[in-house]
Amino acid sequence: MRFFAHAFTAIAAIVPFSMAQSGTPVAYTDKDTGITFDTWTVSESLSKGGYTFGLALPSDALTTDATEFIGYLLCSSTNATFTGWCGVSLGGTMTDSLLLLAYPNGGDILTSFRYTTEYHQPDVYTGNAKLTQISSTINATHYSLIFRCSNCLQWNQGGKSGNATTSAGVVNLGWAQSFAAPGSPGCPSDISLHYHDNGHNIWAATLKNAPNKSYDDWTKLPQTTVKGSCSTKAVPSSTRVPSSSTRVPSSSTRVPSSSTRVPSSSTRVPVSTTTPK
Ligand code: HEM
Ligand SMILES: *[C@@H]1O[C@H](CO)[C@@H](O)[C@H](O)[C@H]1NC(C)=O
Ligand SMILES: *[C@@H]1O[C@H](CO)[C@@H](O)[C@H](O)[C@H]1NC(C)=O
Ligand SMILES: *[C@@H]1O[C@H](CO)[C@@H](O)[C@H](O)[C@H]1NC(C)=O
Ligand SMILES: *[C@@H]1O[C@H](CO)[C@@H](O)[C@H](O)[C@H]1NC(C)=O
Repeated sequence: MRFFAHAFTAIAAIVPFSMAQSGTPVAYTDKDTGITFDTWTVSESLSKGGYTFGLALPSDALTTDATEFIGYLLCSSTNATFTGWCGVSLGGTMTDSLLLLAYPNGGDILTSFRYTTEYHQPDVYTGNAKLTQISSTINATHYSLIFRCSNCLQWNQGGKSGNATTSAGVVNLGWAQSFAAPGSPGCPSDISLHYHDNGHNIWAATLKNAPNKSYDDWTKLPQTTVKGSCSTKAVPSSTRVPSSSTRVPSSSTRVPSSSTRVPSSSTRVPVSTTTPK
């Protein structure tokens, strides 16, 4: 998984909003789930600790615009205080795109959809995008998340709409990473964000291995909805899980229980958050 750092820097420096040049993907197969992604990696020199985003898409995504994907994020933490946050823009630019951010909190990865028309802390996205977690890992230096993102490739907020057109064979994406963790991290819609001081940029992601005929099978893998500790108005208590059953020791991998794959020896199984299909 390597990003073409030089091409990427050149594009950014010369024509930041032109997507003429492609970001060649690298295929990566997650060993626990068997999901194959196209991945793009930002080097350590551009973002300390590195950053990787991956996409898997429905098999017909190169002919019919997909509205959903299975995503992979691998992001960096500096130390126990500066555990960071990272994000992806599904339209490339920070403004007028659906943004997704993720951060480690306790044993969980918490996520939040955001949207903004200006370069300041993005608002909570009010559209119907939905994220369910397939697996996650957290250790001292990195956190990763494999997730299904439904209604994520078309968006609408405040009368403005946009989309990522997978049928074009290339999608504009953006990455951002912060050293500081979010403030007030317990509930993802209530966090305060520090600017992404561990880098940001846009790239034009060429789709190669992302569409896969196994995509529909992968959407049937057990998934969890991880909401954090939000007030009862936002989260019905029936969906909350006692923290003791969701905490995962560092360095372990979480894969939901009825996965057809054989979990690796370090895999822990979450207890009670499986989402009905
Ligand atoms: C407090 C929160 C945030 C602030 C103050 C902020 C501010 C900014 C500013 C000023 C830029 C332009 C920098 C430049 O061109 O040199 C930028 C770019 C960018 N930001 Fe943010 N940002 C925030 C949160 C986020 C989040 C949550 C995401 C994604 C999940 C994100 C994604 C991006 C991306 C991809 C770019 C590069 C593309 C572009 O310039 O539009 N930002 N941000
Ligand atoms: C954690 O990393 C931050 C950012 O580099 C640094 O300012 C802080 O001193 C570090 N804290 C510890 C306890 O090492
Ligand atoms: C932490 O996780 C990253 C990403 O999965 C991995 O490359 C690294 O080896 C892990 N570190 C330790 C100490 O296990
Ligand atoms: C996607 O966006 C383009 C312009 O960026 C627009 O022409 C097209 O109608 C949009 N497609 C959908 C399905 O919204
Ligand atoms: C589809 O996924 C399978 C299982 O991960 C993988 O072996 C295969 O190479 C993938 N196909 C493409 C076209 O990438």
